[in-house]
Amino acid sequence: MTVQLVHVADLHFGADADIRQIEALEGMLPDLRPDALVISGDVTQRARHGEFQRARAFARIVAQTAPVVAIPGNHDVQWWRRPFVPFGKDALYHKYRRYFGDDLTPTLTIPGGAVIASALTSHGVAWGSLTTTLRDIAVKGHLPKAEFLRVQRLFGESAAGIPRVLVLHHNVLRGEISRRMGLARWRQAQQRIVASGAEVVLCAHDHQEGADVLGGKVVVSTAGTLSTRSRGGRPSCFNFVTIEPTAVHITFFRWEGERGRFQASDTTAFARSGGKVSAANLQPQVT
Ligand SMILES: [Fe+2]
Repeated sequence: MTVQLVHVADLHFGADADIRQIEALEGMLPDLRPDALVISGDVTQRARHGEFQRARAFARIVAQTAPVVAIPGNHDVQWWRRPFVPFGKDALYHKYRRYFGDDLTPTLTIPGGAVIASALTSHGVAWGSLTTTLRDIAVKGHLPKAEFLRVQRLFGESAAGIPRVLVLHHNVLRGEISRRMGLARWRQAQQRIVASGAEVVLCAHDHQEGADVLGGKVVVSTAGTLSTRSRGGRPSCFNFVTIEPTAVHITFFRWEGERGRFQASDTTAFARSGGKVSAANLQPQVT
């Protein structure tokens, strides 16, 4: 079975959202016939009620076409609330939960197609996310051991041969332009992601789209942004991920501002064999 996923992130409702792009995506989604739409976090700019309300409206509109898997990004977390109070973490997610429901790490199984799990990497001001750079506070994320073990167990219990897709917010590979990693202790996080059994990772945060491989085993789709904050002034972009028995394809749909539409652009293909991403054939082929 072939699984088709629309992968978006960093919509940043608020001053920086590009509502033309949002409406264009809402309008074209039924024609793309996705099996699911994944929102890899940062639906708001400042975790404000109005921003969450438009984000929820977006999620409800696209849910008429396909099931939605959404997780919070660092902008969706009220990190300034009780940052140093142990066990005060619930306050961080209060608004997100009000609009997107209690589950911060939803799972979706597409029958016979794929299991989509998610991991929480947006923890606000947390020891695990701290780095030696002050401006990283509440921006970087981390992948806690408990999250890794939960996802690993979930994938372990899924039917054999079914693609395992992991959704998280922070970029797991270094940004091409920013040269930044999204996660603190990123080597450990990368090892955990590979060990989790994920075949495809859907992440974001860097505001630059990407299609690459982690550890010779995991295909990584990094979504760009649908806001005006695209890195390097590049056109905004969302990703269309196709998982077939023998390949994973990531197609970038780039924004054409003058025509007011997204257009399918380049595709990067990765080989799979026997239901697994094949290390021997992982050279991306850009067509
Ligand atoms: Fe982010």
